[in-house]
Amino acid sequence: MWTSATVLKEDNMDTKALQPIKQRYGIVGNCEALNHALDTALQVAKTDLSVLITGESGVGKEIIPRLIHDNSLRRTRKYFAINCGSIPEGTIDSELFGHEKGAFTGAIAEHEGYFGAADGGTLFLDEVGELPLSTQARLLRVLENGEYIRVGSSVVRKTNVRVVAATNVNIQAAIRDGHFREDLFYRLNTIPIKMPPLRERGEDIILLFKKFAMEIAAKYQMPERITLSPEAEEIMKRYKWPGNIRQLKNVTEQMSILLRDTRVVTPDILSDYEIWPTIEEKGGLVRVGRNNDQTHSYQTEREMLFQMINALHREVNDLKQQLSTMSPGSGLQGATMPMAAPQQPMSSRPAVVPTVVSTHSSGPIRDNHTDTPYAEEYVEESLSIDEQEKHLIIKALEKNRGRRKRAAEELHISERTLYRKIKEYGLDDI
Ligand SMILES: Nc1ncnc2c1ncn2[C@@H]1O[C@H](COP(=O)(O)OP(=O)(O)OP(=O)(O)O)[C@@H](O)[C@H]1O
Ligand SMILES: [Mg+2]
Repeated sequence: MWTSATVLKEDNMDTKALQPIKQRYGIVGNCEALNHALDTALQVAKTDLSVLITGESGVGKEIIPRLIHDNSLRRTRKYFAINCGSIPEGTIDSELFGHEKGAFTGAIAEHEGYFGAADGGTLFLDEVGELPLSTQARLLRVLENGEYIRVGSSVVRKTNVRVVAATNVNIQAAIRDGHFREDLFYRLNTIPIKMPPLRERGEDIILLFKKFAMEIAAKYQMPERITLSPEAEEIMKRYKWPGNIRQLKNVTEQMSILLRDTRVVTPDILSDYEIWPTIEEKGGLVRVGRNNDQTHSYQTEREMLFQMINALHREVNDLKQQLSTMSPGSGLQGATMPMAAPQQPMSSRPAVVPTVVSTHSSGPIRDNHTDTPYAEEYVEESLSIDEQEKHLIIKALEKNRGRRKRAAEELHISERTLYRKIKEYGLDDI
């Protein structure tokens, strides 16, 4: 019988054997931590052990459960990927475990639920840390003995489902705070797989950039793909990538489409896309993204919002400058231009949201052109952090016509966080 010990004992990783897997799933990268994650996934695939995939947002966690299912004996059976963070608390039990007709208002027919439907197959529970405690109790039971009860029923049913779960929040902290059951954590975490953050992947950052640049050039039949100057490569490797591979992909796509005058990305161009190492990173001292205790970093989300605000501010100033040139008599002519003149045409900048910055207490976000903290540069208007955040969320929702998944991706926050903030700011109508 397979146990976690037998699976993990084998330490003779054959990296060549991973090549076909990487090709099949479009996985780019050779860093040891990535290879180790893929190797563990392959080894454990042939067992029924539960797997818990951890890693920051955008690191590629979703590749692993598919790879496990496709390489398991269950591959001909059903595979479902469920995002626990996006299902409202009131319906999650019924979605996962099913319900009987009449179990609650609106339950006009019986519903099988994922655990019933996936019998013999695999369930991927993404963002498992977002499950309510009552659902965690049901999940623990089905993991222990395959038993579950539909909502509104007293009949115990059996199912044979292999569960792979993922989380980008620190479950240990959630356990400490009483939001996640410790016994469930140990049950899910039989085999842990950790996906490394992009900033720790070294040369893989450049390989991924090339892959995304090539893909987008092929997709839109561009005569030439974008490339990086040697200095830009260095910056890409030193930057902390709070949004990880998702952010790298977005930025590469934006630059591929918007750069017109040149196809070689320089440090100046990168700074237009908010890619530059912080002072600490320049010295190679600090890498932010998670707190030191590895708890989920709300600060990171804030920091990303501020980066967007930074881009925006420059855009607004560019706009002012353009307007003042176009209409010499306009009142804008005398507006202060604290930033350097644009190095790119407006259209080559990332889309950003109009607002203004007042202060930022945590320090690392600085203007790349002047290396001066914002607080000293801008005093035009003083919006609170919450107001700025609300504004950005409204803009992201409007831009994506209310599609919350897309808006959350753009803001580099989880859908669950976005839902919470929509409630918090009373934005349900958007
Ligand atoms: N090694 C890789 N090679 C190529 N593309 C990758 C790789 N890893 C991730 N990606 C791409 O990066 C993007 C983000 O990956 P994914 O959605 O799996 O992140 P995640 O870890 O699930 O993030 P979140 O916690 O926010 O859901 C996807 O478009 C994915 O295809
Ligand atoms: Mg995901």
